[in-house]
Order: sequence, then C-alpha cells, then structure tokens
Amino acid sequence: MKTLLRLFRVSVIVLLPLFCRAAADTVPKVWDDGEAASFRLPLAALGTPPKLLSERDYYALPEVNVKTYPVYTPDQEPKGYMDWLSQQEPQPLVDVSKLKTKADWIAAGREVFYGRELPRFSGSEDNLKLIRDPRVLAAYRVQTTAEGVLLGLRYVVRAKGKVELGTDTCAMCHVRILPDGKLIEGIGRAHV
Ligand code: HEC
Repeated sequence: MKTLLRLFRVSVIVLLPLFCRAAADTVPKVWDDGEAASFRLPLAALGTPPKLLSERDYYALPEVNVKTYPVYTPDQEPKGYMDWLSQQEPQPLVDVSKLKTKADWIAAGREVFYGRELPRFSGSEDNLKLIRDPRVLAAYRVQTTAEGVLLGLRYVVRAKGKVELGTDTCAMCHVRILPDGKLIEGIGRAHV
C-alpha cells in the first residue's frame, strides 16, 4: 500500500506540470453564438435583443497586436522617454509563443487591459502636443496614477521612429483611481 501511495505521489509530481502546461496552452473560446445570444436584454417596444456580431465574423476579424507604452504627465515623464520611444522597433503586445504558465497568461491579460488601444488619434501630431499641455489634461480630467501615468492614453509604435497616440484602453473605463492613489481594477465607469 505504501509503495502504491508513493507511486501515486511520484506520478502526480511528474504529471502535474504536464497538465498545467496543457491548461495554460489552451486559449479559451471568447466569442460563442450560443453565449452571445443571452448577452443583451430585449429592447423595449421591439421585444427582441439587438443582434451581435456572429461567431464566424468575430473570428474572421483581422488581428491587431502592437505593443504600446504608457503616456506620462509632462512633469513625471522619465528623462529621454520620447527619444527612447522613437528608437523602439514595433513589437507584438502579446507574444503567445512565449506564454507558458497560467501566470504568464494572467500577466499578458494585464498587458492587454492596460495596453490595448484604438487608433483614434493616429497620425495627429496636434494631439501628441495637446496631451503635453497641463491645461488640456485638467480640462479633460484624465485619470492619472501616482506615477503620472494617464490611464486612457497610450503611445503606439507601429513603425520605427513614428510614435503615435492611441486611446480607449480597457483601463480607461475599468479602473478607478481613489483619492489616496489606490487603483480599483475591473469596475465599469459610466463617466471617464
Ligand atoms: C469607453 C469606456 C469603456 C471601455 C474603453 C471599455 N469598457 Fe468595458 N464597460 C464599460 C461600461 C460603462 C460597462 C458597463 C456597461 C453596462 O453595464 O451595460 C462595461 C462593461 C464591460 C463588461 C461587462 C461587465 C459585467 O459586469 O457584465 C466587460 C467584461 C468589459 N466591459 C470588458 C472590457 C474590456 C476587456 C475592455 C477593453 C478591451 C473594455 N471593457 C473597454 C466601459 C468601457
């Protein structure tokens, strides 16, 4: 019995990393027609819910995977930051081939939560200048962390030497900064 127990223990120790790896390698399905059908309540008067993107169209969307960088208030920006950014090569926001463990996947999710942007301001030199103006930041009440990071904005490098401004990160609306500087991550904010 003792030998059997030991054998069981050894096999668990040997096999556990294999199971963990299998779990960490499996990308969960994020868009499912069946699930999406229950996402929205029926609209008043119409009695039916709005139609959402189909699973087929969702998975046919082109993939956008570009690394982005924090935007700082001018007084807290690290020295030489903009020059350093202009020397960066475009890189993927997430490199799936490097994600091995569950912790890697969680860290990648955090990177996407804070770093995924919509290229609304792409190509606008004016906006790059505007966000360095304290009056503009105050007027828009952009949420700013204790380290001077503006949550809703990101610098994007799609081509070396060209730093662009992106916006609409998940964190813009899903993080609240409390007066003492603590961050609450996850909640939806109607006002951003
Ligand atoms: C412009 C603001 C905004 C942005 C950007 C945004 N969200 Fe939201 N999100 C909201 C608001 C507001 C709600 C709550 C909507 C509601 O209750 O109908 C919400 C709801 C959600 C919910 C549902 C939460 C629940 O309790 O059911 C999820 C999940 C979610 N967002 C994920 C994301 C992710 C992931 C991103 C980035 C890819 C993102 N959101 C970007 C504003 C935003």
